[in-house]
Amino acid sequence: MSPVSLSLKAQIRQSAAHRQTQVSLKQMVNFGRNVTPYTLLRSSTFLSRELPIRLAKRISELDSLPLGLATTPSVQRIRALYEMSYADLAALPAPPLLPASLSLNLPPFEADKTIVEVDSDLDAEAWKSPPAEIPKAVLEYNREFTECITTVKTRDDRVALTMAQGLSEVKKLGQSQQISQQPNTMYPTIMPKHDEAAQNLLPFDLRAVLDRFYMSRIGMRFLIGQHIALAKTCSDPASTTPGYVGIINTRVSIREVVARASQNAHTVLQATFPNLTVLPEIKLYIATPASNPASKIDDVFFMYPPSHLHHMLFELFKNSLRATVQRHHNKAAINQISSAMLSSNALNEKNPFPPIAVVVAEGEEDVTIKISDEGGGIPRSGLPLIWSYLYTTANMESFVKDGEERRRTMAGYANQPIFYGHGFGYGIPSARLYARYFGGNLEVVSLEGHGTDVYIHVARLGDNEEPLP
Ligand SMILES: Nc1ncnc2c1ncn2[C@@H]1O[C@H](COP(=O)(O)OP(=O)(O)OP(=O)(O)O)[C@@H](O)[C@H]1O
Ligand SMILES: [Mg+2]
Repeated sequence: MSPVSLSLKAQIRQSAAHRQTQVSLKQMVNFGRNVTPYTLLRSSTFLSRELPIRLAKRISELDSLPLGLATTPSVQRIRALYEMSYADLAALPAPPLLPASLSLNLPPFEADKTIVEVDSDLDAEAWKSPPAEIPKAVLEYNREFTECITTVKTRDDRVALTMAQGLSEVKKLGQSQQISQQPNTMYPTIMPKHDEAAQNLLPFDLRAVLDRFYMSRIGMRFLIGQHIALAKTCSDPASTTPGYVGIINTRVSIREVVARASQNAHTVLQATFPNLTVLPEIKLYIATPASNPASKIDDVFFMYPPSHLHHMLFELFKNSLRATVQRHHNKAAINQISSAMLSSNALNEKNPFPPIAVVVAEGEEDVTIKISDEGGGIPRSGLPLIWSYLYTTANMESFVKDGEERRRTMAGYANQPIFYGHGFGYGIPSARLYARYFGGNLEVVSLEGHGTDVYIHVARLGDNEEPLP
């Protein structure tokens, strides 16, 4: 081991001991309105301290993953990527300091108390009325920083998938080796009813560790995505869609996101069951508000990053579609492939599948989204297992190969490839993390023999801080 990597490891250990600084949706929006190179610098400065802390915490946690997971090739790969990202951030020059006068009215990020000192290189007096011309040092730092975190984010793109592969590596190892002989400490009363599920689980609960890992990853990706988008707005304001602050839409339309997520989930379903001639329909109902029963609203708007909302709906729609098709496929005509299947008129009244109903209710505190299907439900004893990241009843045979990435991209998300149903069991737990990230929640209620209801609660006020581990 070279002395360089030794000192990097020491640095990582040190960073991991620092506290993370949580942010809220509201804070991010207030901060990102009217972005200037100075706000961007403020954000860079915050992230240049915050991201290494968050990365370091994850790296040390990866080292302590149980059951040999830490040494699987997949987890080693994730660790190497995160170390590389940590090193890149550590190698950046220190951000130029701004005088306190400029930092007024900027967001109350706890971590950047230190950056309002006056830098000797920049004359504090001159900055009392900020120069019309932005100092080169500021522009240069902003550019370099944005470039660096763009690489950090790209490196992380496949991490969730890689982690899922790590889990299946351990699972395979466990099935062939001693792990299967260990006493089951996970769900003792449930397991006997679920032979097939038992094979899909590790002998003790990795859920908490994985929840922490994935939650932190959501947070880092959000912060980076937000900064990159703000940098774009700053350099090219016309490129930003009105209503957006970074990647947050201050008035996201639930109808629009439901439509996009349906389209993408239908695409996956079609790839999974290529012989279906019709697909279950996904119908949206907007609940009439109790406060105004005469109103006929047909959409609900609230502040949220649409990509997060899309992630949750897409995962849940995939599940509901699969359950519906598996339960009712004998009623559907199979093998007459219709090319226009994905167009909405193919989802017509003759559709033999019971539709998936999406009901959206707008309250003062929450927007609640209920997704109801008639896919037969989940047995009550199996319900606790769905949060485990490994519980799946997906028949891998009928699915596209593990993690295979098709050349199609998500409708509405340029360059984002669709990952087909991997059957890893990642869908529901990850959707709940997204819901919780901004103070919401996700619940699953099963009507065994009939169908499943999933409730997503989105906190409207947006002042909940990230629930970081
Ligand atoms: N709407 C539903 N109806 C019936 N069973 C469901 C429903 N949603 C989930 N399940 C059950 O819960 C399991 C876990 O779902 P989850 O979305 O977490 O993983 P998956 O769909 O198996 O795989 P992935 O989402 O990673 O591709 C599913 O395999 C299925 O058995
Ligand atoms: Mg799923």
